[in-house]
Amino acid sequence: MNREFAAALEEWYGVNGRDLPWRHTRNPYLIWVSEIILQQTRVAQGMDYYERFVERFPDFGRLAEASEVEVMRMWQGLGYYSRARHLHAAARMMAAAGCFPADYAGVKALPGVGEYTAAAICSIAYGLPHAVLDGNVFRVLARYFLIDEPIDTTRGRKVFRAMADEMLDTAAPGRYNQAIMDFGALQCVPGVPDCLRCPLGTTCGAFREGRVRELPVKERSVHVRDRYLAYFYVCDTNGRVYLRRRPRGDIWQGLYELYGIEGDRPFCPDEAAPMFPGCRLTSCASRFKHQLTHQTLYADCYMVEGFAGELPGNGEWVAAGDLPDYPMPRLMERLLEAVGPKIRRYFFESLI
Ligand code: ADE
Repeated sequence: MNREFAAALEEWYGVNGRDLPWRHTRNPYLIWVSEIILQQTRVAQGMDYYERFVERFPDFGRLAEASEVEVMRMWQGLGYYSRARHLHAAARMMAAAGCFPADYAGVKALPGVGEYTAAAICSIAYGLPHAVLDGNVFRVLARYFLIDEPIDTTRGRKVFRAMADEMLDTAAPGRYNQAIMDFGALQCVPGVPDCLRCPLGTTCGAFREGRVRELPVKERSVHVRDRYLAYFYVCDTNGRVYLRRRPRGDIWQGLYELYGIEGDRPFCPDEAAPMFPGCRLTSCASRFKHQLTHQTLYADCYMVEGFAGELPGNGEWVAAGDLPDYPMPRLMERLLEAVGPKIRRYFFESLI
């Protein structure tokens, strides 16, 4: 635990925390209902629904007895209706068991409850030491501790998970969790927060370095570029295939690929015929989508039979049976798998 960080957050929360109806109870059922509502609904909108819902269904027994239609009607307008179905199903499980689950594993096993919701319920209702980690918490931790690690990668999530666990005030986990949630929602907001009036500003890493707007980092927020590739499985009269090596300075450097061209718009099949006059062209794959981290590739592939000319680039003619010996990007393997049946048919037809 980092005492200063937790203490500063909790002090801020004591003054600025929101007075919400579910904060006056430690009844796990009521806290569970509030957390399910808040999964996809803002506090301001969720409050009325919460009041009406718990007035009509004050405990899991009353919720379990209700019809699904009635539960759905109470939820009407909140959206994400699977939440209501899960609440209802979970209440029936509780009614059968005779109690609300008493530990983290039991709470997390409820339909509709993930890691975040289980941590919130268990810390608030039972005082169990589980740290919440959601968008607000990522933002606060990334900024305060100047963490550059992307929040949307497995590696990044591990870093933030470890940090969140380490920061948790184990003496008051529920209070700490709600403090960091509210701090992220009200003070350390996305975009341009009011850092000059932030009590943590003097010790905040991002504020000190002028990097508040940059954090947290998301890998996917990096622009994803679309590229359109057209490949040609060109066979010469000896049944050999033309293969090229990928150049430096681009994806797949040094790997092999079929002869191909690239454009910044989808390839039009009509463009293929004039490139190979007198040849027979067969489409083998069309708009094959292949996702790289920062690029979305769309590939078409044609088989070109009877080619007898020269092709640009320093490629080589390779016996079709030797293709597996050449290292290729995964996309190329997928395209060759699509070409395969057509080649077999072509050779079969040429035998009869
Ligand atoms: N968002 C999700 N759960 C919350 C809670 N208990 N308090 C404030 N915001 C939340």
